[in-house]
Amino acid sequence: MAIPSEFIDELVARSDIVDVVSDYVSLSPKGGSYWGLCPFHGEKTASFHVLPDRQLYHCFGCGKGGGVVSFVMELENLPYPDALRMLAKRAGMEFPEGNLDDSGRRRRARLLALNKEAARYFHSQLHAPAGREGLEYLRGRGLSKGIMTRFGLGFAPESWDSLTKAMTAKGFTKGELLEAGLAVSGKKGGVYDRFRNRVMFPIIDLRGEVIGFGGRVLGDGTPKYLNSPDTPVFNKSRNLFALNLAKTTKLGRIVLTEGYMDTISLYQAGFDCAVASLGTSLTADHAKLLSRFTKEVVICYDADNAGVQAANRAIPMLEKTGLKVRVLRVSGAKDPDEFLRKYGPDAFARLLDQSENHVEYSLGQLQNKYDLKDLDQKVAFAKEASELLAKLNSPVEQEIYAGQIAELTGIGKDALLRETRQSRNQRMRTARKKESRKAMTPVMQVQPKARDMRYENPRAARAEEGILRLLMLDSSLWKEVQGLEPGQFTSPHLGRIYEVLRRRLLEGQPLQVGMLEGELSREEVELLTRLMAEPESLENGKKAMADYRAILEGAQWKDLREDSDLLAVRDRLLQKKTI
Ligand code: CTP
Ligand code: MN
Repeated sequence: MAIPSEFIDELVARSDIVDVVSDYVSLSPKGGSYWGLCPFHGEKTASFHVLPDRQLYHCFGCGKGGGVVSFVMELENLPYPDALRMLAKRAGMEFPEGNLDDSGRRRRARLLALNKEAARYFHSQLHAPAGREGLEYLRGRGLSKGIMTRFGLGFAPESWDSLTKAMTAKGFTKGELLEAGLAVSGKKGGVYDRFRNRVMFPIIDLRGEVIGFGGRVLGDGTPKYLNSPDTPVFNKSRNLFALNLAKTTKLGRIVLTEGYMDTISLYQAGFDCAVASLGTSLTADHAKLLSRFTKEVVICYDADNAGVQAANRAIPMLEKTGLKVRVLRVSGAKDPDEFLRKYGPDAFARLLDQSENHVEYSLGQLQNKYDLKDLDQKVAFAKEASELLAKLNSPVEQEIYAGQIAELTGIGKDALLRETRQSRNQRMRTARKKESRKAMTPVMQVQPKARDMRYENPRAARAEEGILRLLMLDSSLWKEVQGLEPGQFTSPHLGRIYEVLRRRLLEGQPLQVGMLEGELSREEVELLTRLMAEPESLENGKKAMADYRAILEGAQWKDLREDSDLLAVRDRLLQKKTI
């Protein structure tokens, strides 16, 4: 059964899109609409805007667009009914749960319940005789009982079926254990526990749900860590370990580490701002996620070469989202965990305060690449360093770093700054060329043309778009297109949208993008918002509507003339027209 459309309509009417978007994006008003940095792609100048009168959002940069429901779906990565649920909670409306065929949601809820039970089980085992070795292992790594509890750490006993038995006793099926990645199917059709004889790290999402696990061997066995596979509730590239805790830190930044143990040790030492990526390199989704909770990220990876490489990859990704990026390199230890054990929290706090902004870090990296005693290499270093400085927007910063490079190389600061200016001018020229290419193709005029390429009959499609736009803006114009059938639209997508609009108009329901998003595909929603974001004057709405209709019907005549049953079809059409 579907969610009642009256409920959806009221929910959308009560969820003002400017309010909802403002929960995530900082918007400033400009000429009747609101502008901000697009949350769906990295950008530094705003091309994302929200139109309050049309209740839609749209980004000229990446083309994403829609109403309030699809905004929540896209941003929170939720399926349609869950986005409605979230909006309902926000608006203080009760969600009509009874009506829903939500087998997908129920399945997810079962897996989350199973994960939670499994986490409880592992935690209880840590303090049971079967978990003695696990507890000793964690103690040996310096963890207090309090921190083990805070992170819900646990132990998977050395057994093929202890978890499976405990969970099936609680009513979970073997199928569910498999789906949650907690069990693996054996050769003879049975299932066995995936995690055995490992200390367990539950991975908890922003809503406090246990979505997966990492399990570490007690000694030197392999694999060192075994993680849950991706499941319907777990996606490594979209979640970060401990972000559920770090998101409320008062320390003003988030420290990004490579490992579970690094993060946990940092907490124990009082740095409640650490997170770890889950055995994968940082993704754009991770970066976006972090930028929702902090303004500054301190990358604190392992001291080895792999850590350095990973930091180099992470920097631009984080910067793209507008985050301030610093890099902290531990020395005298292989990773932050070991550093804390060896030198203590105060030493780490000092490192954190001195952590280099990424310019210093990148300069350090460059310096390692060249042998500055060699003249040629020194020149190459100075050139590359100047290119780096050219990327800085602040002349003061350029000045300071040029001074440092001058000291390092013995090359005059002025020469370095000249080189920097040249490199900057070059960059500006390239950027300007790109911009002017963009400017020559102003969004409003050319985008439709580019889009027209997809239409079989661009002229008619423009008229069809006009009809939809006018209907969305002023539904009283509906009278002007009475009798027009969806099948008369030359574009199937536009025809589909028209069909949905027509049905709602016939039933006297209001029209707002947010109210249509359950019935239209993502592509259709984006098509509709894009055409709605275009200017349209309502002054001559009636006349415009009549013109659009005439074009559409003219296009049909043209089609029909090529039809072999021309006369018969034309007669039918004529009859229809006179009714
Ligand atoms: N990792 C993994 N699978 C492995 C090894 C590592 O998924 N076989 C992931 C884990 O998330 C781990 C992170 O990569 O936390 C960092 O790996 P590593 O530096 O080797 O582990 P540490 O965190 O230092 O773990 P420990 O201190 O327990 O040795
Ligand atoms: Mn490590």
